[in-house]
Amino acid sequence: MPAQFGSYQSEIYLQGMSGVVPAFTNDPTALESSARELMEPGPYWYVAGGAGSGATVRANREAFDRRRIVPRMLTDATERDVSTTVLGTELAAPVLLAPIGVQSIVHPDGELATARAAAELGIPMILSTASSHTIEEVAEASGDGERWYQLYWPNSDDVTVSVLERAERAGYTALVVTLDTWTLAWRPHDLDQSYLPFIRGIGTAIPFSDPAFRASLERTPEEDRNSAVLRWVQMFTGVDKSWERLAFLREHWSGPIAVKGVLHPDDARRAVDAGMDGIVVSNHGGRQVDGSVAALDALPGIAEAVGDRVDVLFDSGVRTGADVIKAIALGAKAVLLGRPWVYGLAHGGQEGVRHVLRGLLADLDLTLGLTGNRSLADLGRHTLMENS
Ligand SMILES: Cc1cc2nc3c(=O)[nH]c(=O)nc-3n(C[C@H](O)[C@H](O)[C@H](O)COP(=O)(O)O)c2cc1C
Repeated sequence: MPAQFGSYQSEIYLQGMSGVVPAFTNDPTALESSARELMEPGPYWYVAGGAGSGATVRANREAFDRRRIVPRMLTDATERDVSTTVLGTELAAPVLLAPIGVQSIVHPDGELATARAAAELGIPMILSTASSHTIEEVAEASGDGERWYQLYWPNSDDVTVSVLERAERAGYTALVVTLDTWTLAWRPHDLDQSYLPFIRGIGTAIPFSDPAFRASLERTPEEDRNSAVLRWVQMFTGVDKSWERLAFLREHWSGPIAVKGVLHPDDARRAVDAGMDGIVVSNHGGRQVDGSVAALDALPGIAEAVGDRVDVLFDSGVRTGADVIKAIALGAKAVLLGRPWVYGLAHGGQEGVRHVLRGLLADLDLTLGLTGNRSLADLGRHTLMENS
């Protein structure tokens, strides 16, 4: 029997009979403003901010708003199934947690809380290389939960291989290689506050616990934190790689690999030629190239170019169940959810992430039914109308 995510709605209304209301809002826009009230300005803007003028953050939302769903009636959509399989992983819903670094700036439990919430709901978590807890600690928190690993590709083959081996040993099944952040973009909000978590030694748990990284240091991170931080910053930013170099990752990772940050159909084709199994169409939530094309606008062309050969995933701007439906209708097999659950983490750790995820899944399930669809396979270009 497929998961009945929509039942969260009746659970909330029934609890209301005893005077219990949700711990925080279900409205995605209000969620961001209420997180702002809870968080210090440095961490808040690190999460909410974008590159440059913020044009791409806005464009991501505008691209969703421009497309509207055309509901169909009397289609017998009472029973629904939103399950799917992506990169060999069976998903109860077409949703994964996007890789988000430095989660301890949002809540002291950081990635551990997120891993527990994701595992509880059967939603895979993609662990960032910039995690504030180690690969092994997060694996333990995730238990039987499905977990993938996101690579910020170090400029050292020894460290790369060591980190990949650790992730495989700890049960991470798929690899997501982020291509769009080989150096950090110009981010005015962070610059204004001179706030970069990594420089402060946050989000360095993975390299600091890595034997190959530690072997590259003259003094251990415990003896000389600043030098270790600087070494790591130089190692994971500043050097662009090439398509040919993907063969190296293929050689050292036995499971499926997806590349994240693809926005051009030709790059998608190159990824397929390089033997990749998946593509994440993403502009990093508008945090990298200010003025970049909205990720949703790039999706149909990429899905058309390579969707029959690899799994196409999508992120950047997903806030509601309707957004998930729109992305699937335009060719994605699943979406990565980003900022919303980070705001949930800020509101209440594991419980907060859980509330945001349950809300999104319920919204997806109910909206799918109300638009007259019973499964993801029913969705396609015919589901949408584009407003000019
Ligand atoms: C605070 C923050 C940290 C992020 N850290 C990473 C990361 O470590 N690795 C990565 O590939 N993407 C990272 N991303 C990008 C997300 O994976 C995803 O592409 C983005 O959040 C999607 O945009 P949205 O949150 O507006 O939907 C980060 C995003 C945010 C907001």
